[in-house]
Amino acid sequence: MKPGFLDKLLARLDRIDPAEARLLLDRLVREKGFLEQVFEALHEGVIVLDETGEITFINGAACRFFGIDAEHAPGSPLASRLPGLDWATLAKPGKSVSRDLEVFYPENRYLNFYLSPIKPEESSVATVGWVMLVRDLTTTRREAEQTLESERLNALTLLAAGVAHEIGNPLNSLDIHLQLMARKLRKLPPGDRGPLEEHLTTARNEIQRLDTILRQFLQAIRPTTPARERCDLTQVLRDALRLLEPELESRDIAVELDLDDKFPPMELDAGQFQQVFYNLLRNAFQAIGGRGGVIRLGARANDFEATLSIEDNGTGIPPEQMGALFEPFRTTKQSGTGLGLLIVRRVVREHGGEIEIQSEPGAGTRILIHLPRGPKPVRLLEPPVSIIDID
Ligand SMILES: Nc1ncnc2c1ncn2[C@@H]1O[C@H](COP(=O)(O)OP(=O)(O)O)[C@@H](O)[C@H]1O
Ligand SMILES: [Mg+2]
Repeated sequence: MKPGFLDKLLARLDRIDPAEARLLLDRLVREKGFLEQVFEALHEGVIVLDETGEITFINGAACRFFGIDAEHAPGSPLASRLPGLDWATLAKPGKSVSRDLEVFYPENRYLNFYLSPIKPEESSVATVGWVMLVRDLTTTRREAEQTLESERLNALTLLAAGVAHEIGNPLNSLDIHLQLMARKLRKLPPGDRGPLEEHLTTARNEIQRLDTILRQFLQAIRPTTPARERCDLTQVLRDALRLLEPELESRDIAVELDLDDKFPPMELDAGQFQQVFYNLLRNAFQAIGGRGGVIRLGARANDFEATLSIEDNGTGIPPEQMGALFEPFRTTKQSGTGLGLLIVRRVVREHGGEIEIQSEPGAGTRILIHLPRGPKPVRLLEPPVSIIDID
């Protein structure tokens, strides 16, 4: 509606004949309808109020935000629809206000509204009503909270990494001093030596354990981008196996290799994968209790992915434990760290892969590592043959 249209209309009101009046009325109704459609299309809530705070118009978005029924709202005071909103303190003559609101019904939302007086003329102080614009800040606010949360977590991780790193040096020096004591001890008569040597060994073992925990912890939290180089993953697997060979032999555990000799070279961080295989082999070894243990290693590849498997016939994993396998510090072992699988998954994911765990309590566990081969290709499919079109 052009400004001044109503003024001109009012000035000519006595000279307008009924036919023309009808036309003008039609036009007014059409323009009102148009404006209402515009307001309905907005994502922002729009509420028009009279000077006492009674609702004269409310759009769909505002109804949704506040859980107000659009049909019955006009004519009722806004404050009665929104208990908690103190109309008298909000609506100060001639002043605009902007405030944040938290609503709990029909759902928990954070809103911001802007209440502005409607004056008949720019210069006028009299207010004939109010318009309220309402924006939904829920997602923005939640995102801000999440950012803050992850920043806090990052800071904590950094702090923990710093502390863990600092503990490394005194630990090292403790070990050296214990070694010196052990050397001096050897000069004592054998009768005095025995119990002291036992204490010393316990102390050194505990230091070893602390050192392992620290190293694994730092590995688990330190973000590292893989240094990729072309390598033969089956060879990396064999190298990791060699590190554990003495332990496997001492327990008579058989190792069966089923490695495809056409397994392709891949661009990977070989050092990180050696750690992955070592952690998995160690878990397999630890899961095997008595005699007759078998560890089976497999490597296959097709055009799209490479799959490596590490399988044992150990204790297996109970179903209720499956969901928490990758949680840090979750361990069922006396001297475990609960970080092994976490490191495994991180390395595999950093290489764009996924880890799959199949297990049956009492029968054994199979861990599969799926790695993509190069960028994932896409293939355009033939259009389907339509039965109707065949002639
Ligand atoms: N091959 C396996 N067989 C049975 N249980 C396993 C196997 N691998 C992992 N687990 C279970 O998952 C837990 C977490 O493993 P991991 O992250 O390597 O930590 P840790 O070996 O220090 O306990 C283990 O404590 C064990 O209960
Ligand atoms: Mg482990």
